[in-house]
Amino acid sequence: MNRVTAALIVFMHSLVILIPAISQEPYDKAAVVQVMRTAQGLLPGIKPAITKNDFFAAASNFWKFAEGMERLQRFKPPKGDPALWTKTLDDFVSAAMRGVGACGEKDAKKASAALAELQTLMASGHRVFR
Ligand code: HEM
Repeated sequence: MNRVTAALIVFMHSLVILIPAISQEPYDKAAVVQVMRTAQGLLPGIKPAITKNDFFAAASNFWKFAEGMERLQRFKPPKGDPALWTKTLDDFVSAAMRGVGACGEKDAKKASAALAELQTLMASGHRVFR
């Protein structure tokens, strides 16, 4: 590898790291707290809904999770790695959508697994960013 190629590779890598950081909006505490409080209200209803085979109610909660967290991706985190913030929220939204899908299949086991993923991501999100 010649020096020009090496320099180019270093430059490209710095872009990969910098572009997501630059394109993020400043942290909006009020918006984040609002989404978190909504999430806190949604969480207790999901498990009982799955247990009662009320897949419509469970799906509705899963979808509200996805909508809320998706909106937070554009903000910089209050602390921690901005790229990890985006990834954690993206994983969260994907897990919530898997929950919606599982409810569509009336599959309580898959829906419970999606709920467990949300709880794991909440714990890691709070450990790193809160
Ligand atoms: C089921 C999912 C979640 C629930 C129920 C939840 C709940 C909460 C609650 C109740 C608060 C306190 C809000 C207040 O001040 O009244 C909070 C704060 C916070 N959460 Fe979550 N959370 C969830 C997922 C996440 C995830 C995935 C992340 C990060 C990727 C995250 C990051 C934060 C941050 C940064 C704060 C501090 C907000 C601030 O005061 O600036 N949370 N969360």
